[in-house]
Amino acid sequence: MDILPLDRDDDVMLKELHGLAARSEAVSRVQPVRRTEDEFLKMVRFEFPGEREEAAVATVDGAPVGWARLFVPERDNRDKCWSHVEVDPAHRRQGVGAALADWLEERARAAGRDMLLTEVFVPVGDRETHASREFARRRGYSVTSVEIVRSLPLPVAPDLLTTELHRAAEAMGDDYQLSVHVDGVPPELRQGVCDASNRLILDAPTGEVEFEPESMTVEDYETLLTHLRDTGRTMVTAVAVHRPTGVVAAYTDLSVPTGDPDIVFQWGTLVLPEHRGRRLGMAVKAANLAELARLAPGRRSVQTMNDEQNPWMVQINVDLGFRVIEEALTVRKLL
Ligand SMILES: CC(C)(COP(=O)(O)OP(=O)(O)OC[C@H]1O[C@@H](n2cnc3c(N)ncnc32)[C@H](O)[C@@H]1OP(=O)(O)O)[C@@H](O)C(=O)NCCC(=O)NCCS
Repeated sequence: MDILPLDRDDDVMLKELHGLAARSEAVSRVQPVRRTEDEFLKMVRFEFPGEREEAAVATVDGAPVGWARLFVPERDNRDKCWSHVEVDPAHRRQGVGAALADWLEERARAAGRDMLLTEVFVPVGDRETHASREFARRRGYSVTSVEIVRSLPLPVAPDLLTTELHRAAEAMGDDYQLSVHVDGVPPELRQGVCDASNRLILDAPTGEVEFEPESMTVEDYETLLTHLRDTGRTMVTAVAVHRPTGVVAAYTDLSVPTGDPDIVFQWGTLVLPEHRGRRLGMAVKAANLAELARLAPGRRSVQTMNDEQNPWMVQINVDLGFRVIEEALTVRKLL
Protein backbone atom coordinates (compact mmCIF):
# COMPACT_ATOMS: atom_id res chain seq x y z
CA MET A 1 0.00 0.00 0.00
CA ASP A 2 1.17 3.55 -0.78
CA ILE A 3 0.02 6.77 0.84
CA LEU A 4 0.33 9.58 -1.72
CA PRO A 5 -0.56 13.25 -1.54
CA LEU A 6 -3.77 13.90 -3.50
CA ASP A 7 -3.24 15.94 -6.65
CA ARG A 8 -6.49 17.89 -6.83
CA ASP A 9 -5.90 18.61 -10.53
CA ASP A 10 -5.99 14.87 -11.28
CA ASP A 11 -9.50 14.42 -12.75
CA VAL A 12 -9.11 10.66 -13.14
CA MET A 13 -8.17 10.16 -9.49
CA LEU A 14 -10.92 12.48 -8.26
CA LYS A 15 -13.50 10.57 -10.30
CA GLU A 16 -12.32 7.31 -8.73
CA LEU A 17 -12.58 8.90 -5.28
CA HIS A 18 -16.12 9.98 -6.12
CA GLY A 19 -17.05 6.32 -6.54
CA LEU A 20 -15.13 5.30 -3.42
CA ALA A 21 -16.80 7.99 -1.29
CA ALA A 22 -20.25 6.97 -2.56
CA ARG A 23 -19.60 3.28 -1.73
CA SER A 24 -18.29 4.20 1.71
CA GLU A 25 -21.21 6.51 2.45
CA ALA A 26 -23.73 3.88 1.30
CA VAL A 27 -22.62 1.51 4.07
CA SER A 28 -21.59 4.03 6.71
CA ARG A 29 -24.46 6.52 6.86
CA VAL A 30 -28.11 6.04 7.75
CA GLN A 31 -29.25 8.47 5.04
CA PRO A 32 -26.52 8.43 2.37
CA VAL A 33 -26.32 11.55 0.22
CA ARG A 34 -25.88 11.32 -3.55
CA ARG A 35 -23.40 13.64 -5.27
CA THR A 36 -22.73 14.08 -8.97
CA GLU A 37 -19.16 13.71 -10.17
CA ASP A 38 -19.08 17.39 -11.08
CA GLU A 39 -20.36 18.43 -7.65
CA PHE A 40 -17.83 16.15 -5.91
CA LEU A 41 -14.88 17.45 -7.96
CA LYS A 42 -15.81 21.07 -7.25
CA MET A 43 -16.33 20.33 -3.56
CA VAL A 44 -12.91 18.67 -3.23
CA ARG A 45 -11.21 21.54 -5.10
CA PHE A 46 -12.76 24.32 -3.05
CA GLU A 47 -10.76 25.65 -0.11
CA PHE A 48 -12.63 27.89 2.26
CA PRO A 49 -10.59 31.10 2.74
CA GLY A 50 -8.57 30.92 5.94
CA GLU A 51 -8.57 27.11 6.01
CA ARG A 52 -5.83 25.14 4.30
CA GLU A 53 -6.55 21.59 3.22
CA GLU A 54 -4.20 18.66 2.73
CA ALA A 55 -5.36 15.32 1.38
CA ALA A 56 -3.86 11.89 0.74
CA VAL A 57 -4.90 8.75 -1.10
CA ALA A 58 -4.11 5.17 -0.08
CA THR A 59 -3.46 3.06 -3.19
CA VAL A 60 -2.95 -0.64 -3.79
CA ASP A 61 -1.41 -1.48 -7.18
CA GLY A 62 -2.13 2.11 -8.24
CA ALA A 63 -5.85 1.96 -7.43
CA PRO A 64 -7.30 4.08 -4.61
CA VAL A 65 -8.68 2.16 -1.61
CA GLY A 66 -9.10 5.02 0.86
CA TRP A 67 -8.48 8.71 1.33
CA ALA A 68 -8.03 11.26 4.08
CA ARG A 69 -8.52 15.01 4.30
CA LEU A 70 -7.00 17.40 6.84
CA PHE A 71 -8.56 20.85 7.36
CA VAL A 72 -6.13 23.31 8.94
CA PRO A 73 -7.65 26.61 10.12
CA GLU A 74 -5.05 29.33 9.68
CA ARG A 75 -6.65 32.44 11.18
CA ASP A 76 -8.32 31.14 14.33
CA ASN A 77 -8.37 27.92 16.36
CA ARG A 78 -4.74 27.39 15.41
CA ASP A 79 -4.27 24.65 17.98
CA LYS A 80 -6.63 22.30 16.07
CA CYS A 81 -7.25 20.51 12.80
CA TRP A 82 -10.33 18.71 11.53
CA SER A 83 -10.02 15.50 9.57
CA HIS A 84 -11.97 12.98 7.56
CA VAL A 85 -10.93 9.46 6.60
CA GLU A 86 -12.83 7.02 4.44
CA VAL A 87 -11.95 3.48 3.33
CA ASP A 88 -13.60 1.61 0.48
CA PRO A 89 -15.86 -1.04 2.11
CA ALA A 90 -14.14 -3.82 0.13
CA HIS A 91 -10.77 -2.85 1.61
CA ARG A 92 -11.68 -2.33 5.24
CA ARG A 93 -10.01 -4.14 8.11
CA GLN A 94 -6.70 -4.37 6.23
CA GLY A 95 -4.87 -1.50 7.90
CA VAL A 96 -5.76 1.18 5.32
CA GLY A 97 -7.61 3.37 7.84
CA ALA A 98 -4.74 3.07 10.31
CA ALA A 99 -2.16 4.09 7.65
CA LEU A 100 -4.26 7.11 6.68
CA ALA A 101 -4.74 8.07 10.34
CA ASP A 102 -0.93 7.92 10.79
CA TRP A 103 -0.57 10.26 7.83
CA LEU A 104 -3.19 12.68 9.25
CA GLU A 105 -1.52 12.76 12.65
CA GLU A 106 1.91 13.35 11.14
CA ARG A 107 0.65 16.22 8.94
CA ALA A 108 -1.27 17.77 11.85
CA ARG A 109 1.88 17.72 13.99
CA ALA A 110 3.87 19.19 11.10
CA ALA A 111 1.32 22.04 10.99
CA GLY A 112 2.08 22.69 14.67
CA ARG A 113 -1.31 21.50 15.92
CA ASP A 114 -1.80 19.57 19.11
CA MET A 115 -5.40 18.52 18.62
CA LEU A 116 -6.95 16.45 15.84
CA LEU A 117 -10.75 16.33 15.66
CA THR A 118 -13.02 14.20 13.53
CA GLU A 119 -16.67 13.21 13.33
CA VAL A 120 -17.81 9.61 13.54
CA PHE A 121 -21.36 8.86 12.41
CA VAL A 122 -23.12 5.93 14.07
CA PRO A 123 -26.68 4.61 14.04
CA VAL A 124 -28.72 5.39 17.16
CA GLY A 125 -27.92 2.93 19.94
CA ASP A 126 -24.51 2.01 18.47
CA ARG A 127 -22.48 4.71 20.17
CA GLU A 128 -20.19 2.35 22.06
CA THR A 129 -19.72 -0.57 19.71
CA HIS A 130 -19.81 0.70 16.12
CA ALA A 131 -16.82 -0.19 13.88
CA SER A 132 -15.83 3.44 13.23
CA ARG A 133 -16.05 4.23 16.96
CA GLU A 134 -13.91 1.18 17.73
CA PHE A 135 -11.40 2.29 15.11
CA ALA A 136 -11.23 5.77 16.68
CA ARG A 137 -10.92 4.34 20.20
CA ARG A 138 -8.07 2.04 19.16
CA ARG A 139 -6.29 5.06 17.64
CA GLY A 140 -6.48 6.95 20.94
CA TYR A 141 -9.42 9.26 20.18
CA SER A 142 -11.97 10.07 22.88
CA VAL A 143 -15.50 11.39 22.45
CA THR A 144 -15.77 15.08 23.41
CA SER A 145 -19.39 15.73 22.38
CA VAL A 146 -22.31 14.06 20.66
CA GLU A 147 -24.51 15.65 18.05
CA ILE A 148 -27.84 14.15 17.16
CA VAL A 149 -28.65 14.03 13.43
CA ARG A 150 -32.32 14.71 12.73
CA SER A 151 -34.37 14.68 9.57
CA LEU A 152 -37.53 16.64 8.84
CA PRO A 153 -39.87 14.97 6.34
CA LEU A 154 -41.10 17.45 3.73
CA PRO A 155 -43.49 19.04 3.07
CA VAL A 156 -44.07 20.60 6.48
CA ALA A 157 -47.79 21.20 7.02
CA PRO A 158 -48.38 24.82 5.91
CA ASP A 159 -50.64 25.32 8.95
CA LEU A 160 -47.76 24.49 11.29
CA LEU A 161 -45.49 27.09 9.67
CA THR A 162 -48.26 29.71 9.69
CA THR A 163 -49.01 29.07 13.36
CA GLU A 164 -45.33 29.20 14.35
CA LEU A 165 -44.74 32.37 12.32
CA HIS A 166 -47.76 33.95 13.95
CA ARG A 167 -46.61 33.05 17.49
CA ALA A 168 -43.12 34.30 16.66
CA ALA A 169 -44.47 37.59 15.24
CA GLU A 170 -46.33 38.21 18.52
CA ALA A 171 -43.20 37.54 20.60
CA MET A 172 -40.96 39.67 18.33
CA GLY A 173 -43.26 42.70 18.26
CA ASP A 174 -42.35 45.54 15.87
CA ASP A 175 -38.70 45.61 16.83
CA TYR A 176 -37.58 43.03 14.28
CA GLN A 177 -37.75 42.86 10.49
CA LEU A 178 -37.86 39.31 9.11
CA SER A 179 -36.65 38.68 5.53
CA VAL A 180 -35.64 35.67 3.41
CA HIS A 181 -32.92 35.71 0.72
CA VAL A 182 -31.88 33.26 -1.96
CA ASP A 183 -28.18 32.76 -2.82
CA GLY A 184 -26.84 35.17 -0.25
CA VAL A 185 -28.09 38.11 1.76
CA PRO A 186 -27.85 41.60 0.19
CA PRO A 187 -24.58 43.53 0.69
CA GLU A 188 -25.89 45.64 3.59
CA LEU A 189 -26.61 42.49 5.66
CA ARG A 190 -23.41 40.58 4.87
CA GLN A 191 -21.24 41.91 7.72
CA GLY A 192 -24.06 41.18 10.19
CA VAL A 193 -24.46 37.62 8.94
CA CYS A 194 -20.66 37.06 9.09
CA ASP A 195 -20.55 38.40 12.67
CA ALA A 196 -23.36 36.06 13.74
CA SER A 197 -21.90 33.09 11.89
CA ASN A 198 -18.43 33.68 13.40
CA ARG A 199 -19.75 33.37 16.94
CA LEU A 200 -21.85 30.28 16.26
CA ILE A 201 -19.03 28.00 17.36
CA LEU A 202 -18.78 29.90 20.68
CA ASP A 203 -22.47 29.75 21.50
CA ALA A 204 -23.49 26.28 20.33
CA PRO A 205 -22.48 23.72 22.95
CA THR A 206 -19.38 21.80 21.83
CA GLY A 207 -18.63 19.61 24.84
CA GLU A 208 -15.09 19.52 26.18
CA VAL A 209 -13.40 21.36 23.32
CA GLU A 210 -13.03 25.14 23.56
CA PHE A 211 -13.25 27.08 20.30
CA GLU A 212 -12.30 30.63 19.40
CA PRO A 213 -14.73 32.66 17.28
CA GLU A 214 -14.24 32.16 13.55
CA SER A 215 -13.09 34.94 11.27
CA MET A 216 -15.17 34.88 8.07
CA THR A 217 -15.06 38.25 6.30
CA VAL A 218 -17.58 39.66 3.83
CA GLU A 219 -15.06 38.84 1.09
CA ASP A 220 -14.91 35.20 2.26
CA TYR A 221 -18.71 35.09 2.31
CA GLU A 222 -18.74 36.30 -1.29
CA THR A 223 -16.15 33.67 -2.24
CA LEU A 224 -18.49 31.06 -0.73
CA LEU A 225 -21.45 32.44 -2.71
CA THR A 226 -19.45 32.15 -5.94
CA HIS A 227 -18.52 28.55 -5.10
CA LEU A 228 -22.12 27.63 -4.29
CA ARG A 229 -23.31 29.19 -7.55
CA ASP A 230 -20.62 27.31 -9.44
CA THR A 231 -21.74 23.95 -7.99
CA GLY A 232 -25.42 24.74 -8.60
CA ARG A 233 -26.18 24.74 -4.88
CA THR A 234 -28.93 27.09 -3.72
CA MET A 235 -28.66 28.71 -0.31
CA VAL A 236 -31.74 30.10 1.43
CA THR A 237 -31.12 32.49 4.32
CA ALA A 238 -33.63 34.02 6.71
CA VAL A 239 -32.56 36.94 8.89
CA ALA A 240 -34.20 38.97 11.63
CA VAL A 241 -32.84 42.53 11.79
CA HIS A 242 -33.26 44.51 15.01
CA ARG A 243 -34.86 47.71 13.67
CA PRO A 244 -33.60 50.17 16.34
CA THR A 245 -29.93 49.20 15.85
CA GLY A 246 -29.85 47.60 12.39
CA VAL A 247 -28.06 44.56 13.88
CA VAL A 248 -28.62 41.10 12.36
CA ALA A 249 -30.10 39.55 15.53
CA ALA A 250 -30.76 36.10 14.05
CA TYR A 251 -30.01 34.14 10.91
CA THR A 252 -30.40 30.63 9.53
CA ASP A 253 -29.18 28.97 6.30
CA LEU A 254 -30.59 26.08 4.30
CA SER A 255 -28.44 24.56 1.56
CA VAL A 256 -30.07 22.83 -1.41
CA PRO A 257 -27.57 20.61 -3.28
CA THR A 258 -27.80 19.64 -6.95
CA GLY A 259 -26.65 16.03 -6.92
CA ASP A 260 -29.25 14.63 -4.55
CA PRO A 261 -32.75 15.66 -5.61
CA ASP A 262 -34.29 14.67 -2.25
CA ILE A 263 -32.29 16.27 0.50
CA VAL A 264 -31.74 19.76 1.93
CA PHE A 265 -29.12 20.58 4.57
CA GLN A 266 -29.69 22.84 7.52
CA TRP A 267 -26.53 24.90 8.01
CA GLY A 268 -25.99 27.40 10.83
CA THR A 269 -28.67 29.04 12.95
CA LEU A 270 -27.89 31.66 15.58
CA VAL A 271 -29.77 34.20 17.67
CA LEU A 272 -27.43 36.74 19.31
CA PRO A 273 -27.48 36.31 23.12
CA GLU A 274 -28.97 39.75 23.79
CA HIS A 275 -31.89 38.97 21.45
CA ARG A 276 -32.82 35.54 22.79
CA GLY A 277 -36.20 34.68 24.33
CA ARG A 278 -38.33 36.35 21.62
CA ARG A 279 -38.86 33.33 19.38
CA LEU A 280 -36.44 34.68 16.76
CA GLY A 281 -34.96 31.20 16.26
CA MET A 282 -38.33 29.74 15.35
CA ALA A 283 -39.16 32.83 13.26
CA VAL A 284 -36.12 32.53 10.99
CA LYS A 285 -36.40 28.74 10.67
CA ALA A 286 -40.12 28.73 9.86
CA ALA A 287 -39.73 31.60 7.37
CA ASN A 288 -36.88 29.74 5.66
CA LEU A 289 -38.89 26.49 5.44
CA ALA A 290 -41.83 28.39 3.93
CA GLU A 291 -39.50 29.82 1.25
CA LEU A 292 -37.95 26.38 0.67
CA ALA A 293 -41.42 24.89 0.01
CA ARG A 294 -41.99 27.56 -2.65
CA LEU A 295 -38.54 27.25 -4.20
CA ALA A 296 -37.92 23.49 -4.12
CA PRO A 297 -41.28 21.73 -3.59
CA GLY A 298 -39.88 18.34 -4.70
CA ARG A 299 -37.38 17.97 -1.83
CA ARG A 300 -38.25 15.26 0.65
CA SER A 301 -36.26 16.02 3.79
CA VAL A 302 -34.10 18.53 5.66
CA GLN A 303 -31.17 17.16 7.63
CA THR A 304 -29.73 18.89 10.69
CA MET A 305 -27.28 18.17 13.53
CA ASN A 306 -27.43 19.56 17.05
CA ASP A 307 -25.38 18.89 20.14
CA GLU A 308 -27.36 16.78 22.56
CA GLN A 309 -26.65 19.48 25.19
CA ASN A 310 -28.50 22.14 23.17
CA PRO A 311 -32.14 21.90 24.34
CA TRP A 312 -33.11 25.31 22.93
CA MET A 313 -32.27 24.50 19.32
CA VAL A 314 -33.45 20.93 19.66
CA GLN A 315 -36.87 22.04 20.96
CA ILE A 316 -37.40 24.29 17.93
CA ASN A 317 -36.50 21.39 15.64
CA VAL A 318 -38.73 18.94 17.48
CA ASP A 319 -41.63 21.43 17.30
CA LEU A 320 -41.09 21.65 13.54
CA GLY A 321 -41.25 17.84 13.19
CA PHE A 322 -37.56 16.80 12.99
CA ARG A 323 -36.94 13.14 13.96
CA VAL A 324 -33.73 11.50 15.17
CA ILE A 325 -31.98 9.37 12.53
CA GLU A 326 -28.33 9.05 13.55
CA GLU A 327 -25.62 10.29 15.91
CA ALA A 328 -22.38 12.15 15.16
CA LEU A 329 -19.65 11.71 17.75
CA THR A 330 -16.95 14.38 17.79
CA VAL A 331 -13.75 12.58 18.71
CA ARG A 332 -10.42 14.15 19.65
CA LYS A 333 -6.84 13.00 19.80
CA LEU A 334 -4.26 15.11 21.61
CA LEU A 335 -1.06 14.92 19.59
C1 LIG B 1 -13.31 3.78 10.26
C2 LIG B 1 -12.61 3.32 8.96
C3 LIG B 1 -11.85 4.53 8.38
C4 LIG B 1 -11.62 2.19 9.33
O1 LIG B 1 -10.86 1.83 8.19
P1 LIG B 1 -10.14 0.38 8.08
O2 LIG B 1 -9.20 0.46 6.95
O3 LIG B 1 -11.16 -0.71 8.08
O4 LIG B 1 -9.34 0.34 9.48
P2 LIG B 1 -8.08 -0.57 9.85
O5 LIG B 1 -8.11 -1.83 9.08
O6 LIG B 1 -6.86 0.26 9.73
O7 LIG B 1 -8.39 -0.86 11.38
C5 LIG B 1 -7.54 -0.47 12.45
C6 LIG B 1 -8.14 -0.95 13.76
O8 LIG B 1 -9.43 -0.32 14.00
C7 LIG B 1 -10.32 -1.27 14.65
N1 LIG B 1 -11.44 -1.60 13.74
C8 LIG B 1 -11.61 -1.24 12.44
N2 LIG B 1 -12.76 -1.75 11.96
C9 LIG B 1 -13.33 -2.44 12.96
C10 LIG B 1 -14.51 -3.20 13.07
N3 LIG B 1 -15.34 -3.37 12.01
N4 LIG B 1 -14.80 -3.77 14.27
C11 LIG B 1 -13.98 -3.63 15.32
N5 LIG B 1 -12.82 -2.95 15.26
C12 LIG B 1 -12.51 -2.36 14.10
C13 LIG B 1 -9.47 -2.51 14.89
O9 LIG B 1 -8.87 -2.37 16.14
C14 LIG B 1 -8.45 -2.43 13.78
O10 LIG B 1 -7.26 -3.14 14.06
P3 LIG B 1 -7.21 -4.75 13.81
O11 LIG B 1 -7.82 -5.02 12.47
O12 LIG B 1 -5.74 -5.05 13.88
O13 LIG B 1 -8.01 -5.35 14.93
C15 LIG B 1 -13.62 2.75 7.94
O14 LIG B 1 -14.47 1.81 8.59
C16 LIG B 1 -14.50 3.79 7.29
O15 LIG B 1 -14.16 4.31 6.22
N6 LIG B 1 -15.64 4.13 7.93
C17 LIG B 1 -16.52 5.17 7.42
C18 LIG B 1 -15.92 6.58 7.58
C19 LIG B 1 -15.65 6.95 9.03
O16 LIG B 1 -16.38 6.61 9.94
N7 LIG B 1 -14.60 7.74 9.24
C20 LIG B 1 -14.24 8.27 10.54
C21 LIG B 1 -13.38 7.31 11.30
S1 LIG B 1 -12.73 8.05 12.79
